[in-house]
Amino acid sequence: MATLVNDSILKNDADGPIPVSGGLGTDSYYNHSFFQKIAANVAKDMIEEAITKKLDVKFLLSSSNTIRIADLGCAVGPNTFDAMQSIVDVIKLKYQTQLPASPMPEFQVFFNDQPANDFNTLFKSMPPKREYFAAGVPGSFYGRLFPDSSLHVVYSSYALHWLSKVPEDLEDKNSPAWNRGKIHHASATEEVLRAYAGQWADDLSGFLNARAREIVPGGIVVIVTHSIPDGMEYSELANGMMYSCMASILLDIAKRGLITEEQVDAFNLPTYAASPGEFVSVVENNEYLNIVTMGESNPSPWLTDDVHVDMNEFVSHIRAAMEGMFSKHFSREIVNEMFEQLEARLSEISVEMESAYKDKIQAFYVLQRNDSG
Ligand SMILES: C[S@@+](CC[C@H](N)C(=O)[O-])C[C@H]1O[C@@H](n2cnc3c(N)ncnc32)[C@H](O)[C@@H]1O
Repeated sequence: MATLVNDSILKNDADGPIPVSGGLGTDSYYNHSFFQKIAANVAKDMIEEAITKKLDVKFLLSSSNTIRIADLGCAVGPNTFDAMQSIVDVIKLKYQTQLPASPMPEFQVFFNDQPANDFNTLFKSMPPKREYFAAGVPGSFYGRLFPDSSLHVVYSSYALHWLSKVPEDLEDKNSPAWNRGKIHHASATEEVLRAYAGQWADDLSGFLNARAREIVPGGIVVIVTHSIPDGMEYSELANGMMYSCMASILLDIAKRGLITEEQVDAFNLPTYAASPGEFVSVVENNEYLNIVTMGESNPSPWLTDDVHVDMNEFVSHIRAAMEGMFSKHFSREIVNEMFEQLEARLSEISVEMESAYKDKIQAFYVLQRNDSG
């Protein structure tokens, strides 16, 4: 692994997208993230199976009796605590089955997020009876976060669709990728879509290079992420419809003179959901990691009774996760008004949204270093 480029640690600055809403209040991510939990649970069996089949505990523990796990983009909880405990449980079970005569290893869990994440809430709400030593690791997961060959399992859920930044071409008024009247690539021009896709591919490539150095031979990287089926357009997905609605509310506010249209044109959400085909092609360009298992699913977390979306809760979840991105660009009054109008606007297209939520909009991938034996 000596030839891997080691400059990504230098790029690990604090200027990434704005984190989720902190604290434990009524608008917090802590209280509005159970849809992400339902979604990640859909992949839970597949993750457990991958760990059971692919993680060779005999090999891993030949040098140390500590298993080190990292959750990248852990936010403020509580989902991360369930995810980490279930990984510990499955490794313990594997250990008991494969090495019944050996003492149980110790576990250390690293909770990573952007430096501005509310780590205080995270650590104050940790389960008191956890079976691991905990540590916080602030920094962007698009750069290096850990020493060489130090992690056994890396997990990241619903975080890799957050780009490290808005693609630069979208910020240039003279570029063909200037995103007039839109806040995302949904329903935007080819140039805008290409700029987003390029940024996402560069970011993922940085993520993979860093992880390739940080995991031990035989270690695994588990990714659960928002996705789009190959061949579909983002505007056909429920989230795409929502981003178009948000843009149209902001343009209406601009017509009333409270903001300018140019402010709307200049604002773009730094998120991109890649298809499995795009993901595979970035991994194929990485010399050090292979995909050992992957899958798509339709978690339908928003469909309360498998048919209807609870728009109020849906908007609360979106707001808890994304409000900071809007607040960086618009005043508090404008952001409040946009979210207040959103529920009513989405209710007008609830039938289309509900039907779109039946698509496979979640993917999971398990990767391993290709020198894992
Ligand atoms: C929607 S939340 C998901 C949180 C958690 N994994 C869950 O499933 O509930 C996405 C998280 O990823 C974090 N994130 C986004 N980009 C990041 C980056 N480059 N480095 C570290 N964390 C990042 C955000 O700050 C946010 O807390």
